[in-house]
Amino acid sequence: MKNRSQILVIDDETDNRKALALLLTHAGYRVDEAASGEEALEILKTTPFEIIVTDLFLPGLSGMEVLRWVKEQSPYTNVIMITGNASAESAVEAMKQGAFDYVTKPFNFQKLKLQIAKALEKSQLVAENLYLRQQLRGKYRFDNIIGNSSAMQQVFSRVEKVINSDSTILILGESGTGKELVARAIHFNSPRREKPFVAINCSAIPAELLESELFGHIRGAFTGAVIDKMGRFEAAEGGTIFLDEIGTMPPQLQTKLLRVLQEHEIERVGSNRRIKLNVRVVSATNADLENLVVRGQFREDLYYRLNVIPILLPPLRERRDDIPLLARHFLQKNCADLQRPLMALTAEALAALEGYDWPGNVREMENVIERTVTLTDGDSITCRDLPSKIRGWSTPEETAPRWPHLGDEGIDLPQLVEQIERQLIGEALQRSGGVKSRAADLLGLNRTTLVEKIRRIGL
Ligand SMILES: Nc1ncnc2c1ncn2[C@@H]1O[C@H](COP(=O)(O)OP(=O)(O)OP(=O)(O)O)[C@@H](O)[C@H]1O
Ligand SMILES: [Mg+2]
Repeated sequence: MKNRSQILVIDDETDNRKALALLLTHAGYRVDEAASGEEALEILKTTPFEIIVTDLFLPGLSGMEVLRWVKEQSPYTNVIMITGNASAESAVEAMKQGAFDYVTKPFNFQKLKLQIAKALEKSQLVAENLYLRQQLRGKYRFDNIIGNSSAMQQVFSRVEKVINSDSTILILGESGTGKELVARAIHFNSPRREKPFVAINCSAIPAELLESELFGHIRGAFTGAVIDKMGRFEAAEGGTIFLDEIGTMPPQLQTKLLRVLQEHEIERVGSNRRIKLNVRVVSATNADLENLVVRGQFREDLYYRLNVIPILLPPLRERRDDIPLLARHFLQKNCADLQRPLMALTAEALAALEGYDWPGNVREMENVIERTVTLTDGDSITCRDLPSKIRGWSTPEETAPRWPHLGDEGIDLPQLVEQIERQLIGEALQRSGGVKSRAADLLGLNRTTLVEKIRRIGL
């Protein structure tokens, strides 16, 4: 890491500058030089430096002005000021303006090296912190879980209450309601955030492998166990394990899991050595666990252990106020991903989204918006751009009958005719807003004939 650090040395006196650059290069740093404040800014505009060592007195733009520019444009760059012997005041001024430190000429190189090492340590710490914070904020802060509905507000306040505890949490909700998102938010906002978040989908792993996956095994525990292997529980030490689709866990494993939750220790498969663990358990299911308990498919005692604090994510159709927010959120995300300007959503399209039932919940909406953004060329999304299941009606192109042929087996002409009538009459009524005389005009029928047909087809 150290060798990749970059230092910019600014001094108009060539010999001094070259000597310092050489010394720093020998000390293992990557060094660039600038002979004036102006040249320095040119370089700084394109290349970030961790440290700038600059003479205070420069012919044009002064060291102080460079310092001011840097503090504004690149606050994480540390500036070390070289001042003349007689200018204690400027040194104080430089510190006030945010210089990391200063040295007075003629300076001791060893001392400067020490200052550089300190400055470097600081800028790396700041950078790392910033990066980590951004990463967390970007991915797991609650502000990434969209929801204004009172149902979601309740979820947030419950999550808020549990993040600082170690209690076992059960997240319930239909598929696509955001269970995993909430589980991650809990972990990454909890004091365990620096430790692992380990997710395991119990239904995705064959029953006979699940135990060793969860608890690990020792060599020779079963055929194929050629080396000792750590399980997911151990991998999550200090952090959180997310047991997804807990309802599918096989019965013998339910018993083992119950013991782990009670005793906070595991045994690898094939071993009887107990390993103490500090892992928070968050589980999730889209199944009706209570019902599984009643039917004897899920251990009641395990259910109570897991369900210390339940968090229920309501289906999207029961919190329709969230639909516009979510739609905009995914619209923004997809347009940004595709590097295109933010698309508008017409009121009509939004109404269609709000009216749809979303059996696949938020995941379905995420997919619909992604698909629509990708396939739509213009700068706004209209009803016509949405999938027909959401729109509630079909465009002629979508339902255009392929011209029927007699084929080998013949056809049912009356049925075909009725099909065509039903589709076209439906469309005409849609377009005329239900006004029958207008629909009749569109179809080239008189109104009575249309009414008669509507009655016969049962539209
Ligand atoms: N409230 C929300 N705000 C923003 N995005 C959401 C929200 N809820 C869900 N999502 C997104 O929807 C997708 C599905 O969420 P997630 O995987 O957490 O659902 P799930 O309940 O675990 O579903 P499944 O039961 O199918 O595993 C994810 O991409 C997630 O980011
Ligand atoms: Mg999930």
